[in-house]
Amino acid sequence: MPVPSPQSPIPVVIDTDPGIDDCLALLLALNSPELDVRAISISYGNTVVENAYRNAVEILRKVKQPVPVRVPLGIGARRPLKRQLQVADDTHGPSGLGYAEVPPAGVILDYVRPLERLLAAQREPVTLVTLGPATSLARVLRANPGLVRDKVSRHVAMIGNIEAAGNQTRFSEFNAWCDPEALATVLAAEIPTEMIGLDVTRKVVIKGSEVERLAQQSPWLHDALRFYVEFHKKREGLDGAVINDVLAIAYLLQPEVLTFSDLRLTVDLDDGQSRGRTKLNPKGSFARVAMEVHPPPVRRLLFERVLAGALVEEAMA
Ligand code: RIB
Ligand code: CA
Repeated sequence: MPVPSPQSPIPVVIDTDPGIDDCLALLLALNSPELDVRAISISYGNTVVENAYRNAVEILRKVKQPVPVRVPLGIGARRPLKRQLQVADDTHGPSGLGYAEVPPAGVILDYVRPLERLLAAQREPVTLVTLGPATSLARVLRANPGLVRDKVSRHVAMIGNIEAAGNQTRFSEFNAWCDPEALATVLAAEIPTEMIGLDVTRKVVIKGSEVERLAQQSPWLHDALRFYVEFHKKREGLDGAVINDVLAIAYLLQPEVLTFSDLRLTVDLDDGQSRGRTKLNPKGSFARVAMEVHPPPVRRLLFERVLAGALVEEAMA
């Protein structure tokens, strides 16, 4: 895998459903000169797309750069391809960012560019990173498969699980569960997909004590993360929180943190506990699936580039 540098950054487009762990992942990406974040598209998932879009605007405002970051924002997907829209407000809160203060959602999204146009505007092929349901990419594949072939050289997805327990049902991971048909469409397209699922993300945790230490230094992130820690304590008895999406960005920065297996998979399209279950099937679609992770460098990147005063509010404090 390419090891990026500030002199030769990787062009990326990120599709995301911010979302508390998405927020950390976006801040890491936007604070990493080894990545050239060309565009961000917003999806439903952790919260409704109107909240997620508002949250993304707020996150961009918070990024401490020489000047506030100007990244084209677009819309990926408002709802699943055919399933009923269900969001994760128990996990990320009604706003999608826990207890963090955010303005009211107000942008009329009808006039915001779709992911298809964001990709078409790219002068060179990009790495597409999807941090939410697969619906955004599936919609572009259905509408314009040639565009994906021309503009997406690599797809890195936080989605699915093979051996690890699910987090939406006992078998299924949330992003896959939201829209199993979309994930099946993406896998069938056999674009170069690297799946980063719960088998590895469950091992990347921010501790409750580390979140508490943010209270002084970064109250906004502290308010977002303490909601997420409360959820993990209630749901999984964990003193901390699994920061799934951060791993997908950290992997781009330091590819050696993950080890992949070449597998053939199918996605369960039925309902009940196995809805969205990604499982091994020799007749299934090919994907590279991360099965081993080395967490310390991922945590180090997060602490150095995001949690150590990477927000504008500290710059003004
Ligand atoms: O299952 C974890 C995934 O679902 C993460 O992307 C999280 O943000 C939620 O979207
Ligand atoms: Ca997400």
